[in-house]
Amino acid sequence: MENALKTVPIAADHGGYEMKEFIRKKLLAAGYEVIDFGTNSTESVDYPDKIHPLAQSISKGKYPLGIIMCGSGNGAQITANKHKHVRAALCWNIELARLAREHNNANILSMPGRFISFELAWEMVQVFISTDFEGGRHQQRVAKIETR
Ligand code: RB5
Repeated sequence: MENALKTVPIAADHGGYEMKEFIRKKLLAAGYEVIDFGTNSTESVDYPDKIHPLAQSISKGKYPLGIIMCGSGNGAQITANKHKHVRAALCWNIELARLAREHNNANILSMPGRFISFELAWEMVQVFISTDFEGGRHQQRVAKIETR
């Protein structure tokens, strides 16, 4: 990253809770500050209640990048992408996480808590937060995404 990332906001519903806890501990052990938007147990919650506050913080520029999870990753991603300036990418392998940064300048990584291993998720997070946007031909494409 051009500016070293120090703080990483994370959020999940009950379907992503255990993965979030795994990622949270890995981030802390790696020296990052973690802003945890919940959820804080496996009790059933509605994913928009947890994802909207994180997405809003990215939308307002409070944090550059964020990590979200739900069971499939879809509900979390769809919710986050309702926010202006948010580009949330649903990814399930390392190359997709890299391309989401390099080509799409994604600022939120969404992962399926019930469909990939936690170790793979951690590898994806490390790639996502350490990969820069390529710019160039991708800049004009990303600039055309926003409609409001
Ligand atoms: C919760 O059961 C599940 O629907 C949720 O985590 C997510 O997969 C929704 O997209």
